[in-house]
Amino acid sequence: MPRVFPEHRPRRLRGTAALRRLVSETTLRPRQLILPMFVAEGADAPRPIGSMPGVVQHSRDSLRKAAVEAVRAGVGGLMIFGVPSERDAVGSGATDEQGILNVALRDLRAELGDDTVLMADTCLDEFTDHGHCGVVDASGAVDNDATLERYAEMALAQASAGAHLLGPSGMMDGQVGVIRRALDDAGYSDIGILAYSAKYASAFYGPFREAVDSQLKGDRKTYQQDPGNAREALREVELDIAEGADTVMIKPALSYLDVLREVAEMSPVPVAAYNISGEYAMVEAAAANGWLDRQRTVLEVLTSIRRAGADMILTYWAAEAARWLD
Ligand code: PBG
Repeated sequence: MPRVFPEHRPRRLRGTAALRRLVSETTLRPRQLILPMFVAEGADAPRPIGSMPGVVQHSRDSLRKAAVEAVRAGVGGLMIFGVPSERDAVGSGATDEQGILNVALRDLRAELGDDTVLMADTCLDEFTDHGHCGVVDASGAVDNDATLERYAEMALAQASAGAHLLGPSGMMDGQVGVIRRALDDAGYSDIGILAYSAKYASAFYGPFREAVDSQLKGDRKTYQQDPGNAREALREVELDIAEGADTVMIKPALSYLDVLREVAEMSPVPVAAYNISGEYAMVEAAAANGWLDRQRTVLEVLTSIRRAGADMILTYWAAEAARWLD
């Protein structure tokens, strides 16, 4: 029997908690977490979302309270989604000053000022009666350039309502450039853009569709990316940066960690990843069955997204995880 005498003993650095802490490569801090929140028009109390246990459609009032608590817990920012009570073909509620998202942004900016980074989903899908992220032409196809005009109007409504960062998530070509120009022309050159640059046509958005009462019948494959394509993501990121994106985002996160890593290596601007509704629902469902240790799993998921290269993570666990990490 040859003597077992390995020269390299990585286990030496794993022997105590203090050693492991000393050599830990990846940080996970509350400020790196962004909490997505839903606010429903006309709601007088929070409404549970069945496929996202623990997440609700807020009333204006409960949104304000939950936002203050999340900020107190140390999260880096809030991403707000509106759920209107009425929808139409062009998503009028998105640009109406009295539309739920704009009203909620005003509430939150009044409540929180500059204590957090207030972000808004700059997309029409919550507000259209066909559920697409843009306006559709006579044949039912999503019209890229007509949609851009709506996004520019939406950006101005959100900027005047108090958002610090706008999150165009519709994957229309040219959306970042058009929004940047509209903001600058209207005197909002300080408002930044968190671009959903590489957003895939993913089955993992399922629970989100329930969260915003989505009216979508078909799919988003003509504007969101094919899950098999990685090179295309780099191209999307390059275009968004050239058009003026202040940060870029990869979405979903867990099935696209390779894309996230590649983008993190080439991006000159901060990189976000969206740990989306389906990723949340999978862990919650397994944990509820006793199949996974919930807290350990959540922290491992978030740590892995950081390790892959995300500077910040949008996650429905943001406030809770921030408290654990405090
Ligand atoms: C579009 C948008 C979606 C999500 C964020 N912004 C849905 C979609 O593209 O179908 C999904 C977020 C999630 O699943 O958690 N406004």
